[in-house]
Amino acid sequence: MMKSVYNLDDLISRDALDAGAEKPARLAVLGWPVAHSASPQMHQAALDSNGIDARYIRLAVEPGQIREAFSRMRDLGFIGCNVTVPHKLAALENCTAVDPAARMLGAVNTVRFDEDATCGFNTDGPGFSRAIEDDFAVLLGRLSVTIVGAGGGAGQAIATQCVLQGVPNLVLVNRTADKLESLFTRLSSLGSATGILSLSLDDPSLAEQCRACDLIVNTSSVGLKPEDPSILPVACLKPEHFVYDTIYQPAVTPLLALARSQGCRTSNGLSMLIHQGAFAFQHWFQKTDPAEVLGVMRKALAGS
Ligand code: ATR
Repeated sequence: MMKSVYNLDDLISRDALDAGAEKPARLAVLGWPVAHSASPQMHQAALDSNGIDARYIRLAVEPGQIREAFSRMRDLGFIGCNVTVPHKLAALENCTAVDPAARMLGAVNTVRFDEDATCGFNTDGPGFSRAIEDDFAVLLGRLSVTIVGAGGGAGQAIATQCVLQGVPNLVLVNRTADKLESLFTRLSSLGSATGILSLSLDDPSLAEQCRACDLIVNTSSVGLKPEDPSILPVACLKPEHFVYDTIYQPAVTPLLALARSQGCRTSNGLSMLIHQGAFAFQHWFQKTDPAEVLGVMRKALAGS
């Protein structure tokens, strides 16, 4: 029987794993929970369109089980995997070769099992950067950026990408300001010319700081629930802003609705999801055409 979600027990043998399936499972997304992940839909479409004989599955892996999961996947001949919450740090620790940018980000979301190495990459940062370029027709490195919810996992990855690309100014905002301390120290040590400021969400200068930026990014979880308010008040927004919400379900969060009412250009996390996926695919299958893969992934998600 093919399952919607697999677990470590399914990785004991090929027969068990592939029972009832046309293609062998050779790629997976590992998370806890993982049932909601849209990655299989995107990646399977790209595998099929490239004629690759492989199935992409969801694998529920409990915290603390990443090492065992990698070892079983290697034994079964997996090509690689994606890794999502809460495993991105553990994934980094269990790779034998880590891409420098992923190391700087402190997180791995894409793994490739080479014969002699387990290679870790991070495609969240580059995926975000490409999404901004695509959606707003501007280069991320030219924009001053405010990140709201910068203390969370997605916020830290995006903040690091902003500094790596040399944005002129970066404003880190979090409800709990203490959570920004280590991020601030780490980003400041990268030696970039970016001016970095950390603020709590209730800082009196928040509106002024936001208005001095070009791009506002929400990386907090506020907006996921229907009853959530906009994470930022209207005073923080101006019509010239680009506003990006990493949430894509719902497609228009309260922040994006407010931003649209102010005449801002807006976009949601779907583009980041697609671009990070396309970058991951490229790490596994270097010979495929990136533009074609991107188009197939976009279509696969639009059809959902
Ligand atoms: P992850 O690491 O998986 O991204 P997280 O650590 O729970 O998830 O991060 C979620 C982000 O949303 C954090 O920045 C969190 O702020 P705190 O660090 O202060 O907890 C933010 N967040 C969640 N609920 C919030 C709320 N009601 N108001 C403001 N920020 C909120």
